[in-house]
Amino acid sequence: MGSAAPAEARSLAEPERQLFGARMLAFVWLPIAVITTLHYSTGMEQQWIHDVLRRCYYLPIVVAAFVCGLKGALAAALTTSALYVPHAFLGHVLGHHHHDPAGTLEKVLEIVLYNGVGAAAGTLAELERRRRVELVRALDEQQALVGQLVRAGRLSALGQVVAGITHEIKNPLHALAGTAELIDPLIPEEAEERGMWEIHVREIRRLQRIAERFLSFARPGPSELRELDLRDVAGRLRELIDADARGKGIRVEVDLPGEPVPVLGDRDQLASVALNIAVNAFEALAEGGGVLRIAVASAGAEEGGRAMAVLRLENDGPPLAEGERARLFDPFVSGRAQGTGLGLAIAARIADQHRGEISAENGGLGVIFSFRVPLLRG
Ligand SMILES: Nc1ncnc2c1ncn2[C@@H]1O[C@H](COP(=O)(O)OP(=O)(O)OP(=O)(O)O)[C@@H](O)[C@H]1O
Ligand SMILES: [Mg+2]
Repeated sequence: MGSAAPAEARSLAEPERQLFGARMLAFVWLPIAVITTLHYSTGMEQQWIHDVLRRCYYLPIVVAAFVCGLKGALAAALTTSALYVPHAFLGHVLGHHHHDPAGTLEKVLEIVLYNGVGAAAGTLAELERRRRVELVRALDEQQALVGQLVRAGRLSALGQVVAGITHEIKNPLHALAGTAELIDPLIPEEAEERGMWEIHVREIRRLQRIAERFLSFARPGPSELRELDLRDVAGRLRELIDADARGKGIRVEVDLPGEPVPVLGDRDQLASVALNIAVNAFEALAEGGGVLRIAVASAGAEEGGRAMAVLRLENDGPPLAEGERARLFDPFVSGRAQGTGLGLAIAARIADQHRGEISAENGGLGVIFSFRVPLLRG
């Protein structure tokens, strides 16, 4: 679920943008300096050498366009013009006799051409760069889509198996729970067997809860997508966890923007994503208390990507193990003895259905889970 690879690809599509970066120094500024030195040190009688050197300037100007875009090409053309003018027209004023012997019109034309070629090559290079960035972005999106499809295929195959098994288990469990209800009043409170009986009933209830969880993974309810404000999801989460947090001594901080953050989503399913992440955070914080920070923001558009709404849940519990991080969203992956390992798999599936994604990283207070869904624009 990470997004490191696309970011890397994007940076490859970007040329170096610094005027005095290593490539500009090696392929633009150094050649211009060498040509200029040769030009100034060539005697007036060697006209053909002056002709060649004057034209050599075009090479670094064009290279600058590809290394640094329009800005680089214009900087190279203007610098070349500035360096060439004294050599072309002011040789006698400056007191040396090595000025370019070509005709005035030819020299003026050359200077105009330096700048014309710089502007044209720079513009073309910019257009090319923009097209390349577009292509890389399209490729990123396609790769993300393929990843989603592969995951969806795997999950749906697994879902069918889980649904089949759970269904077979649920019926006898239902019968067990029903008979337990009938037997319960027959065992007196003070009977020796009462303790064992309570374990029996508790375990039946636990199995029923696990079966329900398996089914909600196997057959997620249909999504009813409608426009909603992601801040309301955070607010609802807060209501749901408030009592539990107080009981466990966990401080819940909520950081919401002043403006609405509109998304297309299913209210209950988005709350379930947030709740699954928050419950995990509570389990990670254990008895020691701690902080859970819930934040809502919008992001992405300014980087040229899809504009996304982000719900972020941070807790100050111990960091995630590096090896564990990549598999957290796979079904049945759990680091807890009592865990079924389905909470995050269900959350990731809901995120997929909303064309969003969930990621986990170590940072901020300790551990950050970010849930992103496309932002609805006005
Ligand atoms: N905030 C967190 N800090 C540390 N570890 C976490 C955090 N959130 C999740 N994990 C790890 O990810 C694992 C998978 O979480 P997931 O919700 O999918 O399953 P689970 O909580 O073990 O079981 P279930 O949610 O189905 O009852 C957890 O068992 C835990 O090891
Ligand atoms: Mg969980």
